[in-house]
Amino acid sequence: FWSAFVGEHARNAVTGWSNAAFEDWYTKRKLLRLTVHIPRHPDAIERVLLTNAANYAKPRIVKRLIAPLIGNGLLSADGESWRQQRRIVAPSFAPGAVAKLTGLMAQAAREGTAKWPQSGTVDIAETATDATMAIIARALFSGDPRLMTEDAGRHITAALEAAGSARLAAILGMPGLRLTPTAWAGARGQRFLRETLTDIVRERGPEGGDDFLGGMIRDLHERFPRSEALKLAIDNAATFYLAGHETTANALTWSIYCLAGDQQAQDRACSEVRAAIDGDPQTLPDRLPFLRQILDEALRLYPPAPRFDREALSDDMLDGHPVRAGEIVSIWPWVLHRHRKLWDDADRFDPDRFAPDRERERHRFQYIPFGGGPRTCVGARFATVEALVILAHWIAARRFALPPGREVELSAAVTLRPRGGLWVEVAPRD
Ligand code: HEM
Repeated sequence: FWSAFVGEHARNAVTGWSNAAFEDWYTKRKLLRLTVHIPRHPDAIERVLLTNAANYAKPRIVKRLIAPLIGNGLLSADGESWRQQRRIVAPSFAPGAVAKLTGLMAQAAREGTAKWPQSGTVDIAETATDATMAIIARALFSGDPRLMTEDAGRHITAALEAAGSARLAAILGMPGLRLTPTAWAGARGQRFLRETLTDIVRERGPEGGDDFLGGMIRDLHERFPRSEALKLAIDNAATFYLAGHETTANALTWSIYCLAGDQQAQDRACSEVRAAIDGDPQTLPDRLPFLRQILDEALRLYPPAPRFDREALSDDMLDGHPVRAGEIVSIWPWVLHRHRKLWDDADRFDPDRFAPDRERERHRFQYIPFGGGPRTCVGARFATVEALVILAHWIAARRFALPPGREVELSAAVTLRPRGGLWVEVAPRD
């Protein structure tokens, strides 16, 4: 269990699992005073995330870890504060609101392809991060230039990569302890982001402004005392800036990785895109059912959030195992999505698993790239539309192939990404 926090798992959350983990339904581990349950049966996942969700809060240990960056914003809040915040932001992520952003998403996609050579090798992870960072900054923060610099990108990467060593420090009860150079770089990254976003929110004042950030600032001031509203506005600016682009960048990257390894699927997607791309941009995602299957399958094999956690508030039973109050329940999409008793040939890329007529074959809680229940990702639709629009433009512009002999190494401190980027060969589409 030590390794879950300080060894291989701390550096890389997705390697180091035994084969048995993908066949068994339950693991319970203990370290010092911490007990962690890892259920894999979809019924147990459903109980934690939906039917008994009121008994499972965001863990205090995780809150301590992320507090310097995202404080008590939507991702980390619980109870009434969470409910109020969710009510404030939800309308901005409703289907109609997201559809209006498709033009902006297409523009960011084209800015990426304009930088690629007609033929050559490109780092898809970098193009994906540039695109999603520009989109989140333009869609939610009126394109504030301070949020679109290379520096901001570097600081985010550093802040996320530091999470492994921060986890150990938190276990030791010293969350501020910086044990490695990565942790120091992460702290610098966190400070940069927090200070930049504090400046941006303070400059707006309580009136906010007429974008997402402005509306949120105003609504928070209506529902919370002034000083709390200001802090929550900064917390949520950080939450949405971070949660809103790094995950989608990884979804794009892994989708291209899967397509580059399956030329047949890529050709089929390209025909679909060519027939669809010139119509009404707001409904473009609805005209891309096969591309949607590709995205769903890439999110299954490479869930950008490979793990998330809860803490039990009172005793419960999960899949026949007693869970005591205060114990941690870890939900692992990475393991669930490749579980051999849930998926045929679980490690194989097969977008036809997500053909509409096969939905009945799945348990609702065996596929949870966006989580589930009341805490499900508020940005799921935003991310899906964004990924489809960007992928469509990229696939229409180039053919992708994997360079021979170059292995992709998985890195998963917090989000699942290819270590050192994803280099693929691009060629013109005839
Ligand atoms: C929550 C995944 C994109 C904002 C979550 C959760 C997951 C997730 C698994 C649930 C965590 C938990 O239950 O502990 C993803 C993936 C994305 C993505 C895989 C892209 C492919 C986005 C985007 C935004 C966003 C684009 C915002 C623009 C949030 C927020 C929460 C959340 C604020 C917390 C919701 C709450 O607790 O009420 N996301 N996300 N995410 N996500 Fe996403």
